[in-house]
Amino acid sequence: MDIIVSPKSGFCFGVKKAVDIVYDAIESGDKVYTLGPLIHNPQVISDLKKRGVIVEENLDNIHTGTVIIRSHGVGQDIYRRIDEKGLKLIDATCPFVKRIHNIVYKYWKAGFDIIIIGEIKHPEVIGINGWCNNEAHIVYSEEDIAELPYIDRACVVAQTTIMQTKWNELISILKNKIKDIKIFDTICNTTYVRQKEAKKLAKIADVMLVIGGRNSSNTQKLYNLCKMYCNNTFAIEKAEDINKNMLDTGNIIGITAGASTPNWLIEEVIRTMDNMNKKNNMDIEGKDENNLNNGNVESETNEKTINHIKAEEKGETEEKTEATKKIEDEDIEANTQNINQQDSDLTENTTDDFSMEDFENTLIDIKTGQIVNGKILSVSNDELIVNIGYKSDGIIKKEDVLIEEGKELSDVFEVGQEIRAVVTKLNDNEGNVILSHRQLEESEAWNRLKDAYNKKEELKGKCIEAVKGGVIASVEGLKAFVPASHISTRYIEDLETVVGQDMRLRIIEIDRHKNRLVASQKVILEEERRAKEEALWETIEEGQKIKGVVKNIVNFGAFVDIGGIDGLIHISDLAWTHVEKPEDVLSVGDEIEVVVLSVDRERKRVSLGYKQLFPHPWDDVDKKYPVGSIIKGTVSRITDFGAFIELEPGVDGLVHISEISEERVNKVEDYLSVGDEVEVKVLDVNPADRRISLSIKEAQAEKEFKNLKKEESRTSSSHDNNEPIISMGEFFPQQKKEDNE
Ligand code: F3S
Repeated sequence: MDIIVSPKSGFCFGVKKAVDIVYDAIESGDKVYTLGPLIHNPQVISDLKKRGVIVEENLDNIHTGTVIIRSHGVGQDIYRRIDEKGLKLIDATCPFVKRIHNIVYKYWKAGFDIIIIGEIKHPEVIGINGWCNNEAHIVYSEEDIAELPYIDRACVVAQTTIMQTKWNELISILKNKIKDIKIFDTICNTTYVRQKEAKKLAKIADVMLVIGGRNSSNTQKLYNLCKMYCNNTFAIEKAEDINKNMLDTGNIIGITAGASTPNWLIEEVIRTMDNMNKKNNMDIEGKDENNLNNGNVESETNEKTINHIKAEEKGETEEKTEATKKIEDEDIEANTQNINQQDSDLTENTTDDFSMEDFENTLIDIKTGQIVNGKILSVSNDELIVNIGYKSDGIIKKEDVLIEEGKELSDVFEVGQEIRAVVTKLNDNEGNVILSHRQLEESEAWNRLKDAYNKKEELKGKCIEAVKGGVIASVEGLKAFVPASHISTRYIEDLETVVGQDMRLRIIEIDRHKNRLVASQKVILEEERRAKEEALWETIEEGQKIKGVVKNIVNFGAFVDIGGIDGLIHISDLAWTHVEKPEDVLSVGDEIEVVVLSVDRERKRVSLGYKQLFPHPWDDVDKKYPVGSIIKGTVSRITDFGAFIELEPGVDGLVHISEISEERVNKVEDYLSVGDEVEVKVLDVNPADRRISLSIKEAQAEKEFKNLKKEESRTSSSHDNNEPIISMGEFFPQQKKEDNE
């Protein structure tokens, strides 16, 4: 008996990956669910159940733990629901199935009708349909196609495990029915090769054993295919299903197995057959000794076959049997033609905006470190899933996204949004490409900052934190240290006051390798100040009125920043009156107008005047205090010859000692004190000499005269007598004397 195991039998890449993922997840100790049976193999499922894996069809029944999406994949909605439920997700979707999701999603978004050639109830098809809002037309026969509505333009994909012949047959019908049709042969190459090899083997085998789960779609298809070429084809699930009658019908036993069949099961089948064969030989022992020798040879052959399977499992170069080589040689030309035809069909059907070329361009190999563009497929609290046009989707973890602190991914990103990222890992052991948005953004930010550093450009920043010796500012998404001495042109006592402020920054030190980024705001402010100063020196001139801010007050005056230059207002120029100390007139921070009194460009000095902007109190003094008027004033100073009376700040008049009283005054202090408020009569005004002569005694006499006149008019009416009681000349002889003069 010659046992030939068809190449590519058993676990495909996608299933092996999924199974490995589940066994790894078991190790984590978490409660592990698979959303539906992981694979169509009862032995494997039973082993997983023994290890605690729970098969759950309905997500509603899962409340905690880890959910593993099997290689068949699921619709977009399931990802959202897993996220909403806060469950841990391990996505074991086969990358080839993910590729179909991507194609479907892309074309559905572009307005195409989606046609899936596949079995309507197959989980993979249900999952694919979930990437076009469950709006796909699912066809599996000519009749299904006949019932399709009118379709303007369509994108056609295949369930990965359908027969190539069915695909070819239905595609040719669809091409005649739909004018604008984009065709993507998504039949898994593994399936194609498995079917091709099984067919070759079935052609020469006397018996074909197809190992696989009874519910496995690809196993059933393998069985049907083999049956077409080998009448003695049997489907078995496990070694115990083999019986002697099956093997009695020939010498060449061909074995193939579905994608869900583990290699250990194939080995078990081979050993069982080997044992059955040995037993058979033992039964006939003695009858024919040569047969016994043959039995030993066959047993050796079977061990070789098992080793061959192991070698293939490890990815080692397979050593093909003579029989296999022969079949390959026979079919190689036909298969090459078939593949070429498939390629040319695809090219022919994808020549417009969404050409195959475009698509294939996005499917080129990616490398770690490569920058990729993608569209966001889903946004959760922890990660973004991104379609990067590769066979697997990209995942960007929250920590790999550069966003403002405190913001959630959903605050910044939305489904459908384009995003650029760098590939950091091609495979995270779950088939996903790991991307980093942060790394790319930071890398580009460093480049921009380096450029800005070289060009001494100003950058916008925001102070986010006060630290020892300075503050941290966010600039272009990176953190820059701003030393305390570089925050401002003035000293800042409390650095916390800067936190939250927008900053104008220039990079003064940059070293990406040391992650060192130092910025300064002061250099910008100082440069601006210098520029303003230079411009001001060009234009400033005496007599110019200019606005400024009081920066500093000293005992001899106040310094005022007039826009890059600090000018001095001397204390004597603060007010027309005597100023005891500058603080009596101005305070630091006051915004005032000043007049430029003098400019010394060589010594860089500017004298400013403040009082000059106000009228001098002696201006119009003769109009304010006309001769003969009686006004009030305050004794401001006393001298031997009289007393100075302040009429208003800056305007004093003199009451000569002789004008203080009718009596003889020997000492002014006997009559007046500083601060006394007195009424005075203006005797003379001389604005040019800034002199005003005043008289208290005349003011008093006039006042008393007026009172007497009032009294006289009151009493004369009661006496009925027109004669005056007293004359002015009698009451105030001096006044009268002056009047006479
Ligand atoms: Fe994937 Fe192909 Fe297997 S689609 S799951 S590798 S059959």
